[in-house]
Amino acid sequence: KQIEELQTNFIAWYQKKRRNLPWRQSRDPYFIWISEIMLQQTRVETVIAYFYRFTEKYPTIEALAKSDEQELLKVWEGLGYYSRARNLKKAAQQIMTEFGGVFPNEIEAIRSLKGIGPYTAGAIASIAFQRAEPAIDGNAMRVISRLYGIDADIAKPASRNVFDAVLRQLIPVEAPGDFNQALMDLGSGVCTPKKPVCTNCPLKNFCFAYQTQQQDRFPVKTKAAKPK
Ligand code: ADE
Repeated sequence: KQIEELQTNFIAWYQKKRRNLPWRQSRDPYFIWISEIMLQQTRVETVIAYFYRFTEKYPTIEALAKSDEQELLKVWEGLGYYSRARNLKKAAQQIMTEFGGVFPNEIEAIRSLKGIGPYTAGAIASIAFQRAEPAIDGNAMRVISRLYGIDADIAKPASRNVFDAVLRQLIPVEAPGDFNQALMDLGSGVCTPKKPVCTNCPLKNFCFAYQTQQQDRFPVKTKAAKPK
């Protein structure tokens, strides 16, 4: 079947080409969580050093829950968006009191943690717990819109549902975390907003935009109205 071939090609590409990142050496949900929060607004290259420092000072959920807020913010210094650090501590306390100190493995419980939205919940659930949940951000929507020629406007919140439905058909239950991280790598290194490098793409034989040479038509994104 077409979907299975696509999945196999994509996962094989990821296994071979994946970036070796410190949080990819572990399936500990705590480490995955810290990395995903840092990566929300900060580039991979910057996050790497912060990830090492943070997890050395706070190696466990308990250590983070008990952290001194001033020291915590000091460790976070330079990453910006300090509410992320405060929410990390609050969520760690939540895990201690509401989940017995064990990181929850169900998507709804993960989403109930302070600072975790749909994208981050999907990333953690798939990478740490092998759950077939999508992690939908701009990268994922760009790749999928080109792959299937989807012209839903990615600036509109409702379009998320379109990509959610397509991704749920596409995520292999055997390797959801690898699949989602393959999408992240593809979106950042190959299927870029401008001048995508389609010759290097493991999905080019399946890709509507490539086959019809319309890469620049996708994703459809309405411009924000200019303030007057
Ligand atoms: N960006 C967000 N999450 C990521 C991950 N797990 N690996 C690489 N880049 C990411």
